Amino acid sequence: MKRLLLIPVLALAALTTFAKGETTSAEQESAKISSEWKEIEPSEIDVNAVKMFAVDWMLLSAGKEGKMNMMTIAWGGLGELWGKPVVTVYVSTSRYTNQFMQDNEHFTVTAFPDEYRQKLGYMGSVSGRNDDKVKGSGLTPEFTELGNPIYKEGNLAIECKKLYAHPFDKELMPQSQREWYDKNNLGVHVMYIGEIVHVWKK
Ligand SMILES: Cc1cc2nc3c(=O)[nH]c(=O)nc-3n(C[C@H](O)[C@H](O)[C@H](O)COP(=O)(O)O)c2cc1C
Repeated sequence: MKRLLLIPVLALAALTTFAKGETTSAEQESAKISSEWKEIEPSEIDVNAVKMFAVDWMLLSAGKEGKMNMMTIAWGGLGELWGKPVVTVYVSTSRYTNQFMQDNEHFTVTAFPDEYRQKLGYMGSVSGRNDDKVKGSGLTPEFTELGNPIYKEGNLAIECKKLYAHPFDKELMPQSQREWYDKNNLGVHVMYIGEIVHVWKK
């Protein structure tokens, strides 16, 4: 009998929520990134990956709201490993972002239209150790359902789950490259391979 009474009460509560225009928790989740983003499958990414990294650059980000960092990258790739679609990025141990790459399970890479190149230049020339880079760049982070940052101004965003990470071994590099690290007093790059878990484009 009690159960029979409960049904109309619950139905009324649900109706009241909709009448007030309140969002359900599922709607709140999906409203985290702007509605301009359309989710696509990794196999639907139809860009020239060499150009996207090496020529146009991407913004690599790791961390969650309130504790994250980001930097411009030109070294990276798209492909497949162990039967999974992957993004590979290379982050020097000298970068502040590397700490966030180590400490977090996910990372994202975001591509931008040409007009944001100067902002990407900024993101690749100052360190989050000394500057508030979000404020300095004027870019607008948005957070995915998994809590990872992508950017409102971007036109392609890829969210990855770390699969494998390993620093380069200087002994196995060409001599010229070893010298380059020494001359620039730069920590070796760590190769991070991430399984693509979500892709959005505009
Ligand atoms: C166009 C461009 C591409 C870059 N690509 C990389 C890269 O692939 N890997 C890397 O470790 N650093 C790269 N950098 C350097 C970092 O973006 C730069 O050192 C940045 O200031 C690091 O910021 P952070 O200390 O806040 O992490 C690049 C810089 C620019 C301008």
